Amino acid sequence: MTIAEKIFHHVSESQLNEISLFLKPYLKAGSIIFLKGDLGAGKTAFTKSLAAILGANMPEVSSPTFNILQIYQCAAIELWHLDLYRIEELDEIRNLGLEDGFANSITVIEWPDIIEQRLKASNIIRIAIEFEDDELLRKIRIY
Ligand SMILES: Nc1ncnc2c1ncn2[C@@H]1O[C@H](COP(=O)(O)OP(=O)(O)O)[C@@H](O)[C@H]1O
Ligand SMILES: [Mg+2]
Repeated sequence: MTIAEKIFHHVSESQLNEISLFLKPYLKAGSIIFLKGDLGAGKTAFTKSLAAILGANMPEVSSPTFNILQIYQCAAIELWHLDLYRIEELDEIRNLGLEDGFANSITVIEWPDIIEQRLKASNIIRIAIEFEDDELLRKIRIY
């Protein structure tokens, strides 16, 4: 199922769950979400909401590389959450077993720029989060 562009305005933190619920039917093993937005926009907050909506056991167990990769065990699938903010070379993440995650899990990637052009998947969803004038609200574009 492909997704038509959709924009949510004035999204509060507690309303992230509504967006996760909207997305849920579009997600399956192999889905990749490229998540864009400045520092503090709410990319990680959104990913946690998505994990919860997918039935993750919270709080998650932190892995040694949890700054880069966090795996949430959800009801029927794993959610792999990658944050590539500090990654300058793809070599740096070559040992994380990402191919398995990309194929078998739902993967959310913050700061995807370094990997975006190379990753081929049939189900790629892009999400951009922007600040609004009210510091507690965000504009969220799914495309
Ligand atoms: N509407 C909102 N959506 C998401 N986060 C919000 C919102 N309002 C306030 N916040 C706060 O903004 C911060 C976002 O941080 P984080 O999710 O780590 O950002 P990022 O991962 O994009 O750098 C959190 O402290 C969160 O509580
Ligand atoms: Mg983050």
